[in-house]
Amino acid sequence: MAAQKALDYVEDGMVIGLGTGSTVEYFIPKLGDKIKKENIEIIAIPTSHRTKSLAQEFQIPLSTLREHPEIDVTIDGADEVDPNLNLIKGGGGALTREKIVAYASKKEIIIVDESKLVQKLGVSFPLPIEVVPFGWYPTKLHIERLFDCNANLRMADSIPFTTDNTNYILDCEFSEIERPEILEKELNDIPGVVEVGLFVDLADIVIAGTREGIKIFEK
Ligand code: A5P
Repeated sequence: MAAQKALDYVEDGMVIGLGTGSTVEYFIPKLGDKIKKENIEIIAIPTSHRTKSLAQEFQIPLSTLREHPEIDVTIDGADEVDPNLNLIKGGGGALTREKIVAYASKKEIIIVDESKLVQKLGVSFPLPIEVVPFGWYPTKLHIERLFDCNANLRMADSIPFTTDNTNYILDCEFSEIERPEILEKELNDIPGVVEVGLFVDLADIVIAGTREGIKIFEK
């Protein structure tokens, strides 16, 4: 439902940012259909290898941020959304590219189901932080000591999970994040931290699919 509704924001001639994750994977085929049926011209910027290959499968024309540094609308998912439309992202490991694309977008639209709507960030989902592999262990210790949390190296098939940028992810368990705007900056100050999965003041619209139907939240 949320993916379907997001199509309303796509218009002929737009540069569209494509996020990553299972919710966006509902959106990509619908976008492919819309391009064909309405015969519109869209150029898309994918935020991950996975999204890129899915978009290619549905014949969505792709480009890069070098060619198109300004994006009209980005459609992405999220792991948590708070009442101020601040987000936790990075469950799929694409947070750094997603944040670069969100920052380059005139409009950032987040599509979620109602399970992602929370009162406080950090309550139900650990905060993903992308780190440089070289110093991941001291980086983890600094994060744990400074912020009194557990920072767990994300694993995949018993080896460290590697992002599209060939970095690692630390999934950090905070009980509740009181001031996401401050935490984001403090974490980004630690050498070795590439990017933090806190998206503060980046989402413009959140479309939530709920049992009662679509709910739209705007900044
Ligand atoms: C990808 O790294 C993430 O930021 C996703 O956008 C987020 O995890 C939402 O994914 P799902 O739609 O699969 O829940």
